[in-house]
Amino acid sequence: MLGIDPQDFKEQARKEIGEAATRKELFALKDKYLGRKGVFASLTGSIPGLSKEERPRAGSMINELKAEVSRLIGSREAEIGSSGAAGSVCVDAVDISMPSVSQYQGNPHPITKTMDDICAVFERMGFAVVFGPEIETEYHNFTALNIPLEHPSRDVFDTFYLEQKEQANRPKGGKLLLRSHTSPVQIRVMESRKPPIAVVVPGRVFRPDAVDASHSFMFHQIEGLMVDEGINFSHLKAVLESFVHSLFSEKTRMRFRPHFFPFTEPSAEVDISCIMCGGRGCSVCGRKGWLEILGSGMVHPDVLENMGIDSRRYTGFAFGLGIERIAMLKYGINDIRLFFENDLRFLRQF
Ligand code: PHE
Repeated sequence: MLGIDPQDFKEQARKEIGEAATRKELFALKDKYLGRKGVFASLTGSIPGLSKEERPRAGSMINELKAEVSRLIGSREAEIGSSGAAGSVCVDAVDISMPSVSQYQGNPHPITKTMDDICAVFERMGFAVVFGPEIETEYHNFTALNIPLEHPSRDVFDTFYLEQKEQANRPKGGKLLLRSHTSPVQIRVMESRKPPIAVVVPGRVFRPDAVDASHSFMFHQIEGLMVDEGINFSHLKAVLESFVHSLFSEKTRMRFRPHFFPFTEPSAEVDISCIMCGGRGCSVCGRKGWLEILGSGMVHPDVLENMGIDSRRYTGFAFGLGIERIAMLKYGINDIRLFFENDLRFLRQF
């Protein structure tokens, strides 16, 4: 039918395969029989030339022979492998003393890692992680946060405003800008949900600062907001203290320093005892023993009222911290630019 006798064919193959002494020889036979231009490929290719009745029989014979040849090759391969491939070890065996192909698979950026670590601490305390847009309206970034028109942060020297033509379709909420902090997301959250609220908001922020070792025109913050009945300053303190102890160490001390933010009242900046010197004073803390890490306060009643939340019934706290600063402290990095230069020698260390 196909011009072959199955028994002879098997016999011939068994002999040939049995005589293969090295993997190389065996691979040559594998190619001869099973390769793309091999014996079986051509046998299969001749099927269409057969009569209708012959085709199924030819097909099943080819399949059977092919299975047998594959089996013979497989078992011969195992024999050669285990017997040390008599005489051909150097050519064919795997040399386990060779340096391996690099298996490096990448790792999270140190800022992403720090952001994830911080979010995880707050998630354990019951905060939900939410996100807001990087392009904001003047209303969300300033007005609703009680930041008056004459406030210096609204100046073009402190905020990136978008070009007028891109603002054509956006009459509500005033001009468009790149958010200068994550606090506008406080407003977005209060617009869309009612208390109890407990969220943290990681994200990118933008300020037209000249770039140097400690400034970048783009950096990251995490905002926190909790609003409910009976929330007071001691809740803020407890939450921040847990955070500081989880992220740094149980020994790290924390202090509030009075400050001013238009959207919180009272407001405070938070310092931690220097994690390099433990508070004795060193070059990292400028001999002060303390490091500033975040801004915080009780949500200003006017902000709650702007959002339609009854400020006699509900109170809340908010805080905002810079992620680069935390990452720099945690990993002992002295130049913020390292985060954004994409130098793999730096990034692979995390
Ligand atoms: N948004 C403030 C900043 O960028 C930080 C802050 C957030 C302060 C929340 C108080 C409450 O400096």
